[in-house]
Amino acid sequence: MEKRADIGVFGGSGFYRMEGVEEIKIDTPFGAPSDKITLTTIGGKRVAFLPRHGKEHQLPPHMINFRANLWAMKELGVTRVIGPCAAGSLQPHIKPGDFVICDQFVDRTRGRKDTFYDGPITTHISTADPYCPELRELAIREARKLGITVHETGTVVVIQGPRFSTRAESKWFSSHGWEVINMTQYPECVLARELGMCYVNISLITDYDVGLEGNPDIAPVTHEQVIEVFKQNNDKLRTLLHGLIAAIPDEPGCNCYRHLLDGRLN
Ligand code: ADE
Repeated sequence: MEKRADIGVFGGSGFYRMEGVEEIKIDTPFGAPSDKITLTTIGGKRVAFLPRHGKEHQLPPHMINFRANLWAMKELGVTRVIGPCAAGSLQPHIKPGDFVICDQFVDRTRGRKDTFYDGPITTHISTADPYCPELRELAIREARKLGITVHETGTVVVIQGPRFSTRAESKWFSSHGWEVINMTQYPECVLARELGMCYVNISLITDYDVGLEGNPDIAPVTHEQVIEVFKQNNDKLRTLLHGLIAAIPDEPGCNCYRHLLDGRLN
């Protein structure tokens, strides 16, 4: 099999394997990616799959080498990246089992290597709208077609982890109207843009973070719950991914690649 791919998929908590034809090991100038990459073909598209935590979930969020993961995808020729992830809900109307196609993020991480441009080449890419509009629209359309409960927009708060949030932190995030909470969307999504690749997030809601106000029966999230609810919804996610991948047109109808060109200073 040719060691090339058009579309990259990152697996998250509870999503460690994709049926594939070949597994390859790639090294990058930034070190090793989280694991071997599986190459497969879906709907006529060449797909590269990489579990961002590693196949054995050996990498907690703050130890993931996001730069190596994105670089490896670029090296394979990937132009579109799909980043599904497990996420908590910060709003009562967004329920476990729902999907959110996020359109914004709030970065609450620290110390992560979040750029390929440490100088002398300098870029300041725009992240006003950090997600690919074309892939977002296709993901929403495919989810609706499959009867999946999908929220068409959402702001994901990306916390450093590995601990979950305190009640005070969670209340503060909710009070802003932000919908979703996760530990890995940053810097994955901006690194894709720095390499000129489109990126879409599919957040699979696994929990209500610290619980639901006024409902003592809903306890704060545990990692076990995240994995359990993700597994329960794995088939839905896989079907959505297959539909989305098949629907992606060969020629992009978006301007994502321009952000890198516009951001370059020298
Ligand atoms: N991933 C899944 N649920 C989460 C939560 N409540 N907080 C942070 N990351 C998560």
